Amino acid sequence: MKKFLYIQTLGCAMNVRDSEHIIAELKNQNYELTNDINIADLILINTCSVREKPVHKLFSEIGAFDKVRKAGSKIGVCGCTASHLGAEIFRRAPFVDFVLGARNVSKISQAVQTPKFISTDINYDESEFAFGEFRGSPYKSYINIMIGCDKKCSYCIVPQTRGDELSIPAKIILDEARRSAARGAKEIFLLGQNVNNYGKRFSNAHEKIDFSDLLVRLSEIEGIERIRFTSPHPLHMDDKFLEVFSSNSKICKSMHMPLQSGSTKVLRDMRRGYTKEWFLDRALKLRDLCPDVSISTDIIVAYPTESEADFADTIDVLKQVKFEQVFSFKFSPRPHTPAQNLALIDDKVASARLSYLQGLHNEILDEIMSAQVGRGHEVYFEELRENNQVAGRSFSNFLVCVNGSEELLGRTLNVKIEKAARMALYGKVTL
Ligand code: 5AD
Ligand code: SF4
Repeated sequence: MKKFLYIQTLGCAMNVRDSEHIIAELKNQNYELTNDINIADLILINTCSVREKPVHKLFSEIGAFDKVRKAGSKIGVCGCTASHLGAEIFRRAPFVDFVLGARNVSKISQAVQTPKFISTDINYDESEFAFGEFRGSPYKSYINIMIGCDKKCSYCIVPQTRGDELSIPAKIILDEARRSAARGAKEIFLLGQNVNNYGKRFSNAHEKIDFSDLLVRLSEIEGIERIRFTSPHPLHMDDKFLEVFSSNSKICKSMHMPLQSGSTKVLRDMRRGYTKEWFLDRALKLRDLCPDVSISTDIIVAYPTESEADFADTIDVLKQVKFEQVFSFKFSPRPHTPAQNLALIDDKVASARLSYLQGLHNEILDEIMSAQVGRGHEVYFEELRENNQVAGRSFSNFLVCVNGSEELLGRTLNVKIEKAARMALYGKVTL
């Protein structure tokens, strides 16, 4: 008998891919996706625990689910918060039917069938599991290339939720990419916590291959036109990687370089493994090799040891690199991390630093976006928007909207930019 599945995904692209894997497994159990929670037989939330806010969100969301669910339905909590809170979720929300940690996704069918099932082994090895096929988008395919994280950044909970780093064998990745091209998706998006550390450890004996060589092999697959990836680590941005990135015509010219702090002292306290100078050297070399590149970053402000002078270093890096996109956060103490018990910076000071940094970045962004007016961008259209607009990404990752309809979807077309806003560019298709 057909059953309905409602799934909400919080957090990063890795969670999006985990949700696709969950949906694929449950489709084999006769579940069909629905957006209507009232008719769902199974309600899932795939959670994030990177900061405190999304954890609060979990409990408010499942409380709301419990009120509107139909009789006999089940509620499951999956993902990073499932890993880190485990059985505490049953105590705080006794109506929850199962708890399934990140990296335990392949056990979803068992979880649904077993009362009060819980599995949160953060080193469970799914690196060679043959998941079924489900993709949220016909135009691009997320592909996991590694699981877990071997870094020990002092603020970060992820090693406690996703375990040690394991690379997925190249053969599995290349086969998945070939299947993706065969279904007509022109873009692949490679996922991992530290993608440019790919190939350091596999769970069985496999061909040794590094990230740069993996990119080259993927770019040789016919039908794949665009390759993106997230997240690379600034520490592992060696010359070979920057050169392959810049010269390979299928690799989209958009690089995520998570800075976290511009102060060498704070970077040391955070155990990031690089200095301000190293980061600047890599970012400026990248701009040099690849003038069209967009660089995005993540920044944590008000890390407990951050002085005004340290914050000024972060601002200095922001001004020098002129990132196209900045994701910035106030430090949020996370359980099981070395920075958990450090004395916090006064919240007013933290908020002031965050809004100063965001204000400055808005000025930089306005300059970057208005400089696009009059330029041409190759846009791969993926999404219908309101008011007869179609949206896609430029090769360098700008969001670009044009007037049009379905027939643009899945096509890569040249667009002349006519108008710029902070978050998007607007233009006309040129033939
Ligand atoms: N507090 C604030 N931000 C954090 N991030 C990770 N851990 C924390 C934390 N404890 C941010 C980092 C990371 C992004 C995904 O989330 O900037 O790159
Ligand atoms: Fe993704 Fe990190 Fe959130 Fe887990 S904790 S979902 S890895 S952002």
